[in-house]
Amino acid sequence: MARDPVARFRTDFVTVAPADVLRFVIERMTEDGSQFVCVVDSARLVGVITDGDIRRGLLSGLSLDSPAVDFMNGDFTYLIAGYAPPEAQHLLTNFEAIPVVTSEFALVGVVSRRGSTAYSLAEPFLTPRETDAISVAAASGWISSKSQDVALFEAEFADALGLPAGLAVSNGTDAIELALLALGLQPGDEVLVPDLTFGATASAVVNVGCVPVLVDVETASLGLDPTGLVRAVSPRTRAILVVHLYGKPAHIDALLLFARDHGLLVVEDCAEAIGTLVDGKQVGSFGDAGTFSFFANKTLTTGEGGFVVFKDRKALERGAIIRDHGMVPEKRYWHEIVGHNYRMTGLQASLGRVQVERLDTLVEGRKRVFGHYRSILSSQPQFEFDVEPVIENRVDSHWLSEFRLSPESAPVRDRLISFLLELGVEARPYFYPLHVMPAYDKYAIPGEKYEVSTTESARGLCMPSSSFLELHDVQEICRRLELAWAVIGQES
Ligand SMILES: Cc1ncc(COP(=O)(O)O)c(C=O)c1O
Repeated sequence: MARDPVARFRTDFVTVAPADVLRFVIERMTEDGSQFVCVVDSARLVGVITDGDIRRGLLSGLSLDSPAVDFMNGDFTYLIAGYAPPEAQHLLTNFEAIPVVTSEFALVGVVSRRGSTAYSLAEPFLTPRETDAISVAAASGWISSKSQDVALFEAEFADALGLPAGLAVSNGTDAIELALLALGLQPGDEVLVPDLTFGATASAVVNVGCVPVLVDVETASLGLDPTGLVRAVSPRTRAILVVHLYGKPAHIDALLLFARDHGLLVVEDCAEAIGTLVDGKQVGSFGDAGTFSFFANKTLTTGEGGFVVFKDRKALERGAIIRDHGMVPEKRYWHEIVGHNYRMTGLQASLGRVQVERLDTLVEGRKRVFGHYRSILSSQPQFEFDVEPVIENRVDSHWLSEFRLSPESAPVRDRLISFLLELGVEARPYFYPLHVMPAYDKYAIPGEKYEVSTTESARGLCMPSSSFLELHDVQEICRRLELAWAVIGQES
């Protein structure tokens, strides 16, 4: 599939009215840090103003009290909503920004080149197609979970990843809760959880009344260490909650074997692993259930949102009832069990359907970005990229472009992150190990050292990873990383 262009569609644009005076226009542009404003009259776009228009206006004798109508450009280039991305890309070679209007000339957004100054960790990659889809859903009135977009999204997402049938839910945490409930876990049951993960993996277990038991991870995969499970398993253990962290596949074959030998259920938390494959199969399809998150920083987003797939049709059916207040589908308002409202809205699903169509772009973008970091940085001894993979035939989807600092460099990791932030690069450390935090320390196995999660957590670095970043963006980010590294080197 062709890559989407660098052009970015934004709705956070600045507007002024034709009667607003130059002083006001300059103030608005300065406040917003923008070099481009749209002039809107009775909801119609009537002109644009750039820094250049202001300079030329001042030279030709305008005063700070001149109205915008006197110096705006009324003969501007624009795009009609639904434009073809290459068209925008082409226009941006000549313009800083281009307004996007409806056929009635109502302003709906602005397409601009991405600013080169600030790089967030992971931003959603949205195009006007997503905006259009939400508008269509809103205009139809089908915005709740009753919208047919939800069922269509469910089928399309599962189909695109080759997953069994699943349920769209409100977020990735609820997806884990629903998986555990639908698989029949009971209060007090123990669930083996990796010590290195986002807290939601463990909170979902606690919130359904079960008990997480923290297990150390493997150095390479950052997933559950199969050899550590032996020390964690007890007669109360019912399930293993496998996490595929940062897009890396966990050691799933060994974990499945362990589960089989001990009669345990397996739930895969794939919140960070859309596009992660083992033996050509999407993770989430190996266990009894697989869960996904569509939070805005995830590879595919619906703003907030989640998904759960089940191996067994009966668990899927139970899940659908639990998701819908415990009501049985054949008899409305008849509650067979106490359920939850874990439903996804039609608005979210309408956005998600376009993201599914662009899935290839989104997943391949993540991998491409990581490849750029690796090719630029891996020869530098302070960065470790080649932690040996433990699984053959694995495809890391690189939700986040992450790597580790060498053991000698680890102590300056947090200083490096603060410095990068000052340089406009949002980098993050790996997650904290769960066993050190007040919310979860009681779930640690007594006497367990958690050496790997502790060491790796202290030296991992996650870099800006949005799917739309291009080589020149990553080069710029790495230039700043190298600058930060050089300054820290002089400090120490
Ligand atoms: C590993 C992991 N599990 C679960 C979640 C929870 O997903 P959500 O934020 O959609 O509730 C996340 C979200 O970031 C995650 O990273």
